[in-house]
Amino acid sequence: MKGTPLTEEIYEYIVQHFAMKERELLERMSTRAKAANMPMIMIGEEQAKFIGFFLKAIGAKRALDVGTLFGYSAAVMSRAMGPGSEVISLEFKEEHAKIARENLEELFLRNVRIQTGPALEAMKLMRRNSFDFILIDADKPNYVNYLNEALRLIKPGGVIAGDNALAWGRVAQTVAPKSDDSENVIGIQKFNDAMAAEKSLFSVIVPIGDGMAMGVVQK
Ligand SMILES: C[S@@+](CC[C@H](N)C(=O)[O-])C[C@H]1O[C@@H](n2cnc3c(N)ncnc32)[C@H](O)[C@@H]1O
Repeated sequence: MKGTPLTEEIYEYIVQHFAMKERELLERMSTRAKAANMPMIMIGEEQAKFIGFFLKAIGAKRALDVGTLFGYSAAVMSRAMGPGSEVISLEFKEEHAKIARENLEELFLRNVRIQTGPALEAMKLMRRNSFDFILIDADKPNYVNYLNEALRLIKPGGVIAGDNALAWGRVAQTVAPKSDDSENVIGIQKFNDAMAAEKSLFSVIVPIGDGMAMGVVQK
């Protein structure tokens, strides 16, 4: 084992010291989502803080959020980028978008625009070189397709990130097709392979949460 395994105790230490605002935001936003029986499959608080830190470091002003759920990652990006910024968030399910809009309105985050429908179709209609940061966190079998569109949409020097790069701990396993969740694991494996092989990207996997594959675009 290389590095230090992340125990519950260490995770709690990190959140207590560095991500309490993100925890409070998550608690607030998830109350409405839980009441609507939405799945709790958002990024974690420490990941939220990391994304915020990263957006500030690169001076991002325009971000694309692929997979809205109840709006947590969108809210985190909106807050980190601040005045004059914009977040476009893509969500397939109207019922998820409705809860996210209510959450964002309550937080006065008016620079987030949620678009409903299939994310890939929406991305195909967007202008090239128009985002500083793109977070891919929707249906896993489409991750490579999202990456291909993201490569067109990202500005030179911008960053593309994909959540769940460790595939719930199964990324290094050989997965039999049609076994439990295999489509998702295989989707992630293909995405990671594409991120690593793409010549216009300088890529890493950050082992935070369920892992984020991140690549800076060198066009
Ligand atoms: C993991 S959740 C996103 C979590 C969110 N990024 C966060 O951390 O707060 C994935 C979301 O993507 C949505 N989704 C799944 N397939 C989609 C598609 N083809 N187009 C757009 N959204 C999709 C799901 O309905 C779900 O709300």
